[in-house]
Amino acid sequence: MQKRTYCTERKSTTTIYFSSDKKYFHELAGNRRTVIISSRNILKSFPEIFQEENTIIIEDDESHKNLATVEEIVSKLLQLGIDRHSYIIGIGGGIVCDITGFVSHIFMRGIRFGLVPTTLLAMSDAAIGGKNGVNFGENKNMIGSFDNPDFIIADSSFVQTLTQEQYMSGLGEIIKYALIGNEKILNLLQDNQAKILNHDNEIISKLVEESILTKTEIVENDPLDTSIRHILNFGHSIGHSIELMENLPHGIAVVKGMNAAVDISLKIGILGNEKAKTIKQLLTSFGYDISYCLGEKHIELLCHDKKKEDSQIRFVLLEDIGKPVIKKMPVEQITALIG
Ligand SMILES: NC(=O)c1ccc[n+]([C@@H]2O[C@H](COP(=O)([O-])OP(=O)(O)OC[C@H]3O[C@@H](n4cnc5c(N)ncnc54)[C@H](O)[C@@H]3O)[C@@H](O)[C@H]2O)c1
Repeated sequence: MQKRTYCTERKSTTTIYFSSDKKYFHELAGNRRTVIISSRNILKSFPEIFQEENTIIIEDDESHKNLATVEEIVSKLLQLGIDRHSYIIGIGGGIVCDITGFVSHIFMRGIRFGLVPTTLLAMSDAAIGGKNGVNFGENKNMIGSFDNPDFIIADSSFVQTLTQEQYMSGLGEIIKYALIGNEKILNLLQDNQAKILNHDNEIISKLVEESILTKTEIVENDPLDTSIRHILNFGHSIGHSIELMENLPHGIAVVKGMNAAVDISLKIGILGNEKAKTIKQLLTSFGYDISYCLGEKHIELLCHDKKKEDSQIRFVLLEDIGKPVIKKMPVEQITALIG
């Protein structure tokens, strides 16, 4: 029998610019034909960054993060005569970044793209790491791809126009990096609480930079999410079901999910009482409501989670602050512990 093997490893490089020049992407795209994917909010808040190029405006709420929006974008790209040598730039929050990456991955089997994340959550998390996609019915991010942009522009001053809720959502993911191992972020959070709550740009940019360093380091070691990258899901299994059921912003639901993971860690005896208390205090000191109540529907959603293997959920728990551990647990055990 004849056999042929070929390498499928995706070798791509992404450059992240910590730039305060919001328009820098024009230079990075060079002379190539460019189309921007963005949203009405961004166009309204930052009209100065849009120049002559074609712009596709999408609705950037979870109910539009779906295949219908992808089809709409593809139709517009065809109408505009965009080809494989053109460039797509996504400017917006995690929804715009996730959709832009996915469309760029599938349009004509792949077109190069860059991202300009505009929320705290997108610049510290969603835009980094090459995971793209859309929801399918109630299933979050169920259809998607891995594809890294050529560049990301991380400009923390974008966050000044966010609502408090969106800001706190991004901060939730940043706290996650502290709890899974970035001590610098933990110290920044503990020493600068008032400044952070006042959206101090100097501290925010330090937090964003540290978050990006943590995420890129983990992603480099596990680009396709098969091992160490799982720790980034701390708070996400339960967080996703809360996000969908309670219609909460992603990072705020993740904070509740992290609290639930701390409770599980405590109840199965891998995390000490004092450490659990410290974590809960850290979360509540930033004003988060960390309460959660898991009903049947949450559990059903948990069962459809991508982090499920056979009948077990792959959970990220904590043995200590900064010491995550991955454990497979049957759904019934989770329900018995915190349901
Ligand atoms: N791909 C990944 O690895 C990854 C990781 C985490 C989250 N996500 C996804 O990210 C999404 C959430 O992203 P998000 O929290 O960035 O929010 P979002 O994209 O849902 O945007 C929230 C709102 O903020 C507005 N907005 C964006 N930037 C603004 C700015 N600078 N000023 C004023 N308003 C602004 C948007 O128009 C929108 O109304 C979820 O769909 C989640 O699944 C993906």
